[in-house]
Amino acid sequence: MATTNLYVGTARNRVDGPAKVTGAAKYAAEFTAPDLAYGVVVSSAITRGRVTAIDTAAALAVPGVIQVFTHENRPRTAWLDYNYRDQVAPPGSPFRALHGPEITFGGQPVALVVAESFDLARHGASLVKVTYEEDVPNTDLDRNRAAAYVPPKKRSGIKPPPDPRGDPEGAFASAPIQVRHEYKQAVEHHNPMEPHASTVIWEGDGKLTIHDKIQGVNNTQGYVCSVFNLKPEDVRVISPYIGGAFGSGLRPQYQLFLAVVAALELKRSVRVVLTRDQMFTHGYRPEAIQTVSLGADQDGRLQSLMHEAIAGTSTFEDYQESVVNWSGFLYRCPNVKLDYKLAKIDTYTPADMRAPGAATGVFALEVAMDELAYAAGVDPLELRLRNYAERDEGENKEFTSKALRACYEEGAARFGWARRSTEPRSMREGRELIGWGLATGVWEAYMMKSSARARLSIDGSLEVACSTADLGTGTYTILSQIGADALGIPIERVQTRLSDTALPEAPIAGGSWTAASSGSAVEMACRAVAEQLLGMARRIDDSPLANADLAHVTFVNGEIRLADDPSRKVSIADAMRAGGVETVEATETAKPSLLTQLRFAAYTHSAVFAEVRVDEDLGVVRVTRVVSAVAAGKILNLKTARSQIMGGVVMGIGAALEEESMLDHNLGRFMNHNFGEYHVPVNADIHDIEVIFVDEHDDKVSPIGAKGLGEIGIVGTAAAVANAVFHATGRRVREIPITIDKII
Ligand code: MOS
Repeated sequence: MATTNLYVGTARNRVDGPAKVTGAAKYAAEFTAPDLAYGVVVSSAITRGRVTAIDTAAALAVPGVIQVFTHENRPRTAWLDYNYRDQVAPPGSPFRALHGPEITFGGQPVALVVAESFDLARHGASLVKVTYEEDVPNTDLDRNRAAAYVPPKKRSGIKPPPDPRGDPEGAFASAPIQVRHEYKQAVEHHNPMEPHASTVIWEGDGKLTIHDKIQGVNNTQGYVCSVFNLKPEDVRVISPYIGGAFGSGLRPQYQLFLAVVAALELKRSVRVVLTRDQMFTHGYRPEAIQTVSLGADQDGRLQSLMHEAIAGTSTFEDYQESVVNWSGFLYRCPNVKLDYKLAKIDTYTPADMRAPGAATGVFALEVAMDELAYAAGVDPLELRLRNYAERDEGENKEFTSKALRACYEEGAARFGWARRSTEPRSMREGRELIGWGLATGVWEAYMMKSSARARLSIDGSLEVACSTADLGTGTYTILSQIGADALGIPIERVQTRLSDTALPEAPIAGGSWTAASSGSAVEMACRAVAEQLLGMARRIDDSPLANADLAHVTFVNGEIRLADDPSRKVSIADAMRAGGVETVEATETAKPSLLTQLRFAAYTHSAVFAEVRVDEDLGVVRVTRVVSAVAAGKILNLKTARSQIMGGVVMGIGAALEEESMLDHNLGRFMNHNFGEYHVPVNADIHDIEVIFVDEHDDKVSPIGAKGLGEIGIVGTAAAVANAVFHATGRRVREIPITIDKII
């Protein structure tokens, strides 16, 4: 079956754009019910210790306050399944809100005040008196290095570092050029526009409809059913829109648990929304201490590469991500050793945050590569080309595709890299030092099993549906494009439905796998609809398509046409009338090819070029230009794809220069828990960002040839900025964010 390609591969506006700008799009905290009550969380004032008393009398005395839930009166049904771990939980014992008096992290929820209005609940929360017995908190990762341990068992989807190859220590010792440094990355907290929020609608008779800020409704459903011993048919989760997530919505969070506790106990609807400062009591990108050792010959060709990382996790879960694995295959190198360890500190468990692990590990590797370039006297771009890996030497596999060379070439040409003078501090304009840096980016090109449904109606409208989420990435739009092209329907007649447990099950939207996974499922479902339609068209008396098979027809403009002779055609409506149906529907499941996964390595690549201007007197760094050249297979929508890369670059600039959650180790608390003190890039920080998609044909990575774009934009960006800062100033900063104090 030929598809029309009218929409896929073009730049389309978001189909959900009008709903978002007119306010028609509803987010988790905007759903309501006549019996809605409001819950406000009381957060622990200590980091480690126990609650010795909670006095809720004053709160309960406020007219309109309905109930105060604490560990003393929490329902016994809650946490029925103590071992339940949600789909993306790391090994360990998940945090159980209100389970007991112990406090294991700063800001831990100790009570939920439920009232007739939000303001009453907030007032009530201010009246809850909590008495604590306080222990000394342990939050300094640096001081816990000696206790670092190899994670006990792998987290699903996260591969432990491969075994060493060759003789890395020996090769390093004998290498003529040696670079070995330590790199650090600060904790970054998730702060999407939409905070964690859950509205739990009491439908009566123990049935719930839940609107949750989540990247996968099935994960929320599974969690609620297990923890509260409910049946899936009694818990429907619907979250059509998400106000940014970046990984923060992968795991069900404690406001969901608290809202469900209250709804089940009070037998009414309850909403719980976290405040901005409570966002800092949640998952975060963990701090990491990394050492990268590069041994090279005189020409800069790698002889030895060793990369070790120690990252923080909570005392109760072994949160893991792939920090060092990238160093095993990004460059050609015969002797490699990779180590990844965790150290426990008294914080909440870290969480996946856009390109988890890669944003951290590739930063260290790519700054180290820049240091090697200077040590070897080789241009940083030339150094990467000399060490270009044609195959995955870590896993000993071919790549499904790898157009990274084109990323370097096209990115460099666009950026003007050839005009760069090598020496640090050699480019300036007035008071400003100018620096140009580059880095490589890489992310996994996953595909996951996904189902989807397509339903075509006789009026020519098409609905495609599955349970995955659109985090703002453009999933509604690309699935509509795929459906429109597959069945020859104008995109305006296609409606995409997502994020509802009543729809065919699709994976959590994460890992940049949604386009490849659910996009392939939608195409399969549409193809199955097409096949049914063709069958009906063939059975018409004297059908012009009597002998046609699916391979030789095209669906265009509401018609099924013979590809070789478009005059032989049947309208979709006529086919349905002949078949005696009003709608044609199919549900299909797309699965990754296990054979492909065994034989091939699949990655998205990028080359990131950054220009900084540094005020020599004040140390202020501005990123004035970024060119990000990306190889991601087939690009489904040039506009939403570009937006993803730009967003990733902005987040990378934030990591490089601004984002840092600061712990006071005496209190064990993150001190800058607000947007006044936790800095993210604002409009004035962002200048020129150019995105290039290089040609990359990949017929193995997924049925639709797409790789996914949600994460690759951030990877390498912080290193490119740090390398540009070195080129501008001659100062090598190995700890991000690069704040003014590290430059002056
Ligand atoms: Mo992404 S960090 O898998 O939402």
